Amino acid sequence: MEKRKEIVMSGIRPTGFLHLGNYFGAVRNYVRMQEDFECYFMVADLHSLTTHPDTKELKANVHRVLAENIACGLDPDKVALYCQSHIYETAELYLYLNMLAYKGELEKTVTFKDKVRQHPDNVNAGLLTYPVLQTADIILHRALYVPVGKDQEQHLEMARNFANRFNHRYGDVFPEPQAFNYGSELVKVPSLDGVGKMSKSENQYATLYLSDDDELIRKKVMKAKTDSGPTVPGSPKPDYIENIFLLMNLVSSEEVIKKFEEDYNQCTIRYGDMKKQLAEDMVNFISPIREKAESIRNDERYLQEVMEKGAAKARISAKATMELVREAIGLKYF
Ligand code: TYM
Repeated sequence: MEKRKEIVMSGIRPTGFLHLGNYFGAVRNYVRMQEDFECYFMVADLHSLTTHPDTKELKANVHRVLAENIACGLDPDKVALYCQSHIYETAELYLYLNMLAYKGELEKTVTFKDKVRQHPDNVNAGLLTYPVLQTADIILHRALYVPVGKDQEQHLEMARNFANRFNHRYGDVFPEPQAFNYGSELVKVPSLDGVGKMSKSENQYATLYLSDDDELIRKKVMKAKTDSGPTVPGSPKPDYIENIFLLMNLVSSEEVIKKFEEDYNQCTIRYGDMKKQLAEDMVNFISPIREKAESIRNDERYLQEVMEKGAAKARISAKATMELVREAIGLKYF
């Protein structure tokens, strides 16, 4: 008998354009994993409601995330590519898990504390229980691996806790989900201004989006923070210079990286030249994805088909898990 493939699940919120962080933290892994695992990838539209976006824009944003995922190489025939709100079982599992999640631990979540700081007027219960909903997404498919960037590490740790707590209380239903990256360490793509990470909503000029046109990519890269260069051979790199090397590592060839590393160590580096090279390599990386995503985005019928097919696949796995969950909890009365 053929061995069943291990299960993978992940999601992206439709809160803005996908950027290089989403690509290297998440989507690049999705594309590799689709060959070897049973994969469930979704657009997390319910999670996006926690920050009260203008819901008139949801449809276009969901379409864009789907199109960008496919343009990056995700094949809707190989994976279940779906929309979170189409799988009603998620809401049911979220409800059961909420009984196992404690206010104190939820309040300590870093992403929750950040949101409270940024939007003190919108501290809703959905925001507090955001990691519970994320856990429901993952364990609904009894997933083992969750390809995500470093910023999701804490949410994954909470998902493991909630899954274990369920198993302890009601009996073994769920495996322990693990954050996953090919390589080893989870990835954090830094922002171009040297402060924090690239993000969909903050410092737009320091973030490279997969939809940026060639001129904008060049402009953003050329504005990245540098200094006058090292004066002592072999000096350690300041954070913002390390970041430029990191970005180069993602898109440039080995020879190019080696050359600039040597220039740095010999104090002959010219950051203007380095950024020009990085800008061109970035343009070559991003422009084919942008063009492909644009044409997919305009094909609404195709995207509808993708969503329907993805939801149908996801529902099969969700329904099977929920049978086990209801039985384990004791909600079967006949
Ligand atoms: P979201 O939409 O913020 O980000 C989507 C994915 O991109 C990764 N990422 C990054 N990786 C490296 N460097 C960066 N600068 C960077 N910025 C973003 C994120 O780690 C993530 O993998 N809560 C999730 C969505 C979600 C989910 C799930 C994820 C909902 N349900 C179930 C996994 C499993 C989020 O807001 O991701």
